[in-house]
Amino acid sequence: MSATIVVLPGDGIGPEVTEAALSVLEACLPVRVREGLVGGVAIDKTGSPLPPETLELCRDATAVFLGAVGGPKWDGGSVRPEQGLLGLRRALGVYANLRPARYMGLPTPLKESLARNANLLVVRDLAGGVYFGEPRGIVGDEAVNTWRQTVEQTKQVAVVAFQQARQRRKRVTSVDKANVLEASRLWRSVVTEVAKDFPDVELEHRYVDAMSFEMLKTPHRFDVIVTDNLFGDILSDEAAAVAGSIGVLPSASLGPGPGLYEPVHGSAPDVAGRGIANPTGALLTVALMLEHALDRPDLARAVEHSVFGALREVRTPDIGGSGTTAEFTAAVHRQLSWRRWQDLPEDEQAPVTEWGV
Ligand code: NAD
Ligand code: IPM
Ligand code: MN
Repeated sequence: MSATIVVLPGDGIGPEVTEAALSVLEACLPVRVREGLVGGVAIDKTGSPLPPETLELCRDATAVFLGAVGGPKWDGGSVRPEQGLLGLRRALGVYANLRPARYMGLPTPLKESLARNANLLVVRDLAGGVYFGEPRGIVGDEAVNTWRQTVEQTKQVAVVAFQQARQRRKRVTSVDKANVLEASRLWRSVVTEVAKDFPDVELEHRYVDAMSFEMLKTPHRFDVIVTDNLFGDILSDEAAAVAGSIGVLPSASLGPGPGLYEPVHGSAPDVAGRGIANPTGALLTVALMLEHALDRPDLARAVEHSVFGALREVRTPDIGGSGTTAEFTAAVHRQLSWRRWQDLPEDEQAPVTEWGV
């Protein structure tokens, strides 16, 4: 039986990059696709950024793909598109957000000799931190947010970080603000405790202020970076400096049920509707979905290599080119069909003459 993928295109460039992502996913394998509303477009049509029908679809899915939510149109409103995304993360119970960022041969603001060897994985806590803590709100001339971090939340995301490090260069950098915040002191002690179960993985701690500089000065030093919800949001956008654009970073949010797969970037209102959004982050997100939700690491590698190959042919303006979303996606499809054909067992390959070579 084929997998059921729920796609939530959302707002701004969300639908543009989702269309590209879906076409590549469908070129890889047969999937059943269901589409739902989330974000600003859902507010406009239903009054809610996460309508119950969308949530129901997502709960029954094999995996969920989300484009992006938000935009100036909804900025002043009492309900915001972003609440749809946060509500979905919470309802699906996804707690570990994997955000890989690596050098891809693209122009980078960093010294290229350092960026060239950078290959980072930010593992961001999605369950805790200041994003969900209560009480929160604005009363009169005072605003309150609460940073709440539990042992359980910290343990579960730390375990994922160490497991990931085991498959990589076996180093975890835990980032916090333990010199000031109690929530960070608890974070640090729990991560240190979890590390005892992974003696083959090296653990180091950094304060987030110092880390923000070190990550740009010596990005190649780092492997897995585990951190809380807010610092993870910030540091993962900063990690885009090694790749060249926020538009090229993918992410996978994992939990006990269906995973939520979304590019790291937002709805990019400044480029939306012009056909020039970079779909690379969305396409590499498809690769993460193939790997983590659909158990097809072979196809995940094929998509990644096709994207990297296509980046040598066509580039969108955010990474210094003049190509369109459609042109780049077409280049990925060409690369993919060639690779898939090459990877087929010999008896399934079309006779060479059919290809006219
Ligand atoms: P953004 O990521 O949308 O854009 C930042 C900059 O990067 C812009 O100049 C934009 O043009 C560029 N950019 C981002 N992705 C791109 C792509 N794929 N191709 C080409 N250029 C790209 O961040 P922002 O401007 O701070 O936020 C805009 C809206 O998106 C806000 O409403 C915010 O809340 C929302 N947002 C949503 C998500 C999400 O849905 N996961 C993530 C971040 C921000
Ligand atoms: C992200 C975004 C979201 C976050 C917003 C849109 C709620 O910035 O996915 O990085 O802060 O987590
Ligand atoms: Mn963000």
